[in-house]
Amino acid sequence: MTDELRDWDITSGVGITALAVAAARAVDTTREDGLVRDPYAADFVAAAGAPVPMPVDAAALTTEDHMWDLMSTFMGVRSRFFDEYFAEAAEYGVRQAVILAAGLDCRAFRLDWPAGSTVFEVDQPRVLEFKDRVLAERNARPGARRRVVAVDLRDDWAAALLAEGFDARQPTAWLAEGLLPYLPDDAAIRMLDIIHELSAPGSTVALEHMANPRAMLDDPLVLRTVDEFGFDLSSLFAGGPEKNPAEYLSTLGWAIGDSSSGELAARYGKEFDDELADLFADNGRYVTARLL
Ligand SMILES: C[S@@+](CC[C@H](N)C(=O)[O-])C[C@H]1O[C@@H](n2cnc3c(N)ncnc32)[C@H](O)[C@@H]1O
Repeated sequence: MTDELRDWDITSGVGITALAVAAARAVDTTREDGLVRDPYAADFVAAAGAPVPMPVDAAALTTEDHMWDLMSTFMGVRSRFFDEYFAEAAEYGVRQAVILAAGLDCRAFRLDWPAGSTVFEVDQPRVLEFKDRVLAERNARPGARRRVVAVDLRDDWAAALLAEGFDARQPTAWLAEGLLPYLPDDAAIRMLDIIHELSAPGSTVALEHMANPRAMLDDPLVLRTVDEFGFDLSSLFAGGPEKNPAEYLSTLGWAIGDSSSGELAARYGKEFDDELADLFADNGRYVTARLL
């Protein structure tokens, strides 16, 4: 395994995908009808110095930035859905959240958390160091108790989470957004098993699932991202779980909800153009599950 596949910072290996997602959130934040409001996303892009410049403003996008335009719309939909997921879990009384592969996710700072909530953010050490440095420079204050868990999700991350004070007796809202295709099958299934083992009744899981990530990588639209985004997704994807994670969780006793990104876009009054709709026909599935 090359070094960049073992560990990475915010502009190398899988780390740069977290920066690209932040850029997409920054762009959607500037749209009047955007679906996400992330006041920190543009700061991360400015501080990182990516090898290929990334946009932060919808008004500055040109025809050369076609993929950024599409992806920022897509990320707005994805972000809104998972923002609502945490709000709903809070309504059910859940006060513990774990964001797996948190990257530059700032939900601990930008969402309204009920008093007594704790948010755990799990990701690679150098990604989280960069994030904390930028947030400290901004004097950002989380709206919940925030615990950073710097660990590789292919290693013993459960032990690291417990060491940071995770309480398996309390219900938890778990999130794996933009993660599964980067994990090999064994680590992805182990992740679902650990979530199950550490979940008290009333816990919830939300995740993004790609049924066929390999097919997506060959799509002409995704091939264009290599130049526009400045990295090659195909060298970063490890395949994700071979089993359908919704079906797997269902066999463990979780009640499942499953929507496509196109359905969510329609729910939020956005329409994906044909290119995006085709790209996500088999991919871009959003699974939520609740342990009864
Ligand atoms: C596409 S980004 C998504 C980040 C965040 N969930 C979001 O949507 O903004 C993928 C993230 O997965 C993290 N990641 C991938 N494989 C990982 C692993 N084995 N251990 C820890 N983090 C990992 C990367 O560091 C990166 O932050």
